[in-house]
Amino acid sequence: MTTKKKEQAKVVSQEQLADGIFSMWIQTEAAGSARPGQFISMYTNDGSKLLPRPISICEIDKEGGKLRVVYRVTGEKTGTEEFSQMKAGDTIPVIGPLGNGFPFEKAEGKKVFLMGGGIGVPPILELAKQMECEKKQIVVGYRDAHTFLKEEFEQAGELYISTEDGSVGTKGNVMDAIRENALEADMIYACGPTPMLRAIKQYAEANGIECYISLEERMACGIGACLACVCKSKEKDAHSNVHNKRICKDGPVFLSTEVEI
Ligand SMILES: Cc1cc2nc3c(=O)[nH]c(=O)nc-3n(C[C@H](O)[C@H](O)[C@H](O)COP(=O)(O)OP(=O)(O)OC[C@H]3O[C@@H](n4cnc5c(N)ncnc54)[C@H](O)[C@@H]3O)c2cc1C
Ligand code: FES
Repeated sequence: MTTKKKEQAKVVSQEQLADGIFSMWIQTEAAGSARPGQFISMYTNDGSKLLPRPISICEIDKEGGKLRVVYRVTGEKTGTEEFSQMKAGDTIPVIGPLGNGFPFEKAEGKKVFLMGGGIGVPPILELAKQMECEKKQIVVGYRDAHTFLKEEFEQAGELYISTEDGSVGTKGNVMDAIRENALEADMIYACGPTPMLRAIKQYAEANGIECYISLEERMACGIGACLACVCKSKEKDAHSNVHNKRICKDGPVFLSTEVEI
């Protein structure tokens, strides 16, 4: 069980980046120890919604004690819709930082792909900012021309974009962008929808590339207690003795060969 406590974070700013996509900076103690690839559990102020919403950390300002999250509103009357209506000065209950984060230190001296798709794009930004490696190739996939965070990525490394409708960059997905640009890497870090991660895992394993993937499974408690978020793993769990990993506590980042997706 986590020892982290729920905290009343303060909204510093909120901005809409694209249709249904919002960026929020919050003042929070969690900023002090946060790592790229970790997430925070954000609670709504609506008493009928008890469970927190896990949202990845997009940027960390340790000195200022602030974290940035970028999130998609999933529908009307949802928790994410409530977050999108918050203004500077409002308070939001959060717990964090949670999860393990990306082992970005392993990238030193390597040629790396940092890959993100859809709402898995935001955590790639802080990872790109903190990573020191020989060649930093950021490959991010969007639906259409709403390529949120593009300017920030351009500052952080070599940027390749794919869009499903072909309006920007390669038409298709992130794997198509790698093929079209004949890119090569000896290490991969990725976050995105399961079909994308499955394709990246297959590509990495076929080519003998060390690959870390961040899984975004449905969660409930977010702190390892309820087992709502388990995925199948190669190794047996030491506590339960079954082939399971809790994404919220053991992950969300796993070595691709450790998990079955
Ligand atoms: C580790 C992790 C990191 C994530 N990072 C981001 C991010 O940076 N930006 C972003 O937009 N989204 C992210 N998600 C997905 C985000 O958590 C869901 O979109 C959000 O919880 C939906 O809540 P809602 O109130 O809008 O929807 P509702 O449908 O009202 O949610 C109902 C319940 O189901 C849970 N739930 C629904 N969809 C998901 C989902 N895909 N993943 C986990 N729980 C879900 C909710 O937390 C809530 O408890 C992340 C998910 C995980 C697991
Ligand atoms: S969400 Fe409860 S154990 Fe992971």
